[in-house]
Amino acid sequence: MLCGALTVLILPAAALELHRERTSPNDLALTGQLTGVPAGEVRYATWKDLRALPTTKLRLTGEFVPGEQEVTVVFLTELWNQLPRAPGADTLLATCADGYASVFKHDFIARYRPFLVLEINGLGPDRWPPPGLKFNPAPYVISVSANVEPAVAGVLDVEHKKPWGVTTLEIANFSDRFRGIFSGLWAAPTPASAAGRETWINSCACCHAGPAQTFGGTKSAQPFAVVQAIAGWNPGFFKKYVRDPEALIPTATMEPHPHYTDAQLSALIAFVTAAPATSTGTN
Ligand code: HEC
Repeated sequence: MLCGALTVLILPAAALELHRERTSPNDLALTGQLTGVPAGEVRYATWKDLRALPTTKLRLTGEFVPGEQEVTVVFLTELWNQLPRAPGADTLLATCADGYASVFKHDFIARYRPFLVLEINGLGPDRWPPPGLKFNPAPYVISVSANVEPAVAGVLDVEHKKPWGVTTLEIANFSDRFRGIFSGLWAAPTPASAAGRETWINSCACCHAGPAQTFGGTKSAQPFAVVQAIAGWNPGFFKKYVRDPEALIPTATMEPHPHYTDAQLSALIAFVTAAPATSTGTN
C-alpha cells in the first residue's frame, strides 16, 4: 500500500468521474484496484460520462448488423488512462450479465487496441438492440477489429475478446487474480503446460473459474475439479469434448473449439492436470 500523499498525487490524472450509486441500468460498474475505493466496493460510470471521453467512430462490417455500420467507441487505452487506477493494476476483467468473462491484460490492450462500444449507428444502449439484431448486447460490448489493428486476425479465439452484455469492469492485478495457476504445482510448468495455461486464461476462463480462487467466468457452473478429473481420467474424451461437446453430449451448451490442434489440446491437458485433485479449490 502506498501512503495517502502519493495516492492524492495520482488522482488528478484520471478524468472519469465515479459515482457511488447506480443511476441507470446502462451505468458501467467499476470495481477492484481503484484509488480511494475500498476493496470489494463498486462504483459506477454513466454512459454519458463515458461518451464524454475522447471517442472514435469506426466503420465496421457485420459487427452487429449485416453490412457496414458506424460504431462509436472509446479505446481501452484511453479508458485505462482515465480510470483512477491504484498502483499495481495491470489488467481489466470484463464480466457480463450471464456470468461470461473476458481478460484484457494491459499489454493486450496496448497491442491489439480493444474498444468499448458506446453507439451503433449513432444509437446508444438505451436504444439497443439496433434494428436487425435480435440479441441485445447492452449495456456494453468490448471488441477488437482487424480494421483497427491487423494483428487481431492472428489471435487464437479472438471472439473471446468480444464480450457482449458487459456490466462490470474489474481493475485488477493479474498476478493476484491468477495466482492459483502460477503458484504451487503450476509454479514451474513444462512448456506445454505453460502454453495450455495461456489458452485457459484467454479462452476457457471466459466460462470456467480456475482452482484456488483463480479468476474465471461463472457461466459454465462447472467446478475446476470436474474439468481436471475428466482431463486426467479420460484425455481422449476431454479432447473430443473440447472440440465438439455436442457430439458427445447432445445437451451440452459449451461452444465447440474445432480449430484446436492435437498439440493445443494436449497442452490444455498438461495444464489442467498439473495439480492432484485433492488440492483444488482449497488453498
Ligand atoms: C462459452 C462458455 C464456455 C467456454 C468458453 C468453455 N466452456 Fe467448458 N463448459 C461450458 C459449460 C456451459 C459447461 C457445462 C456443460 C455444458 O452444458 O456444456 C462446460 C463444461 C466443460 C467440461 C465438463 C464436461 C462435463 O461432462 O461436465 C469440460 C472438460 C470443459 N468444459 C472444458 C473446457 C475447456 C478446456 C475450455 C477452453 C478451451 C472450455 N471448456 C471453454 C462452457 C464453456
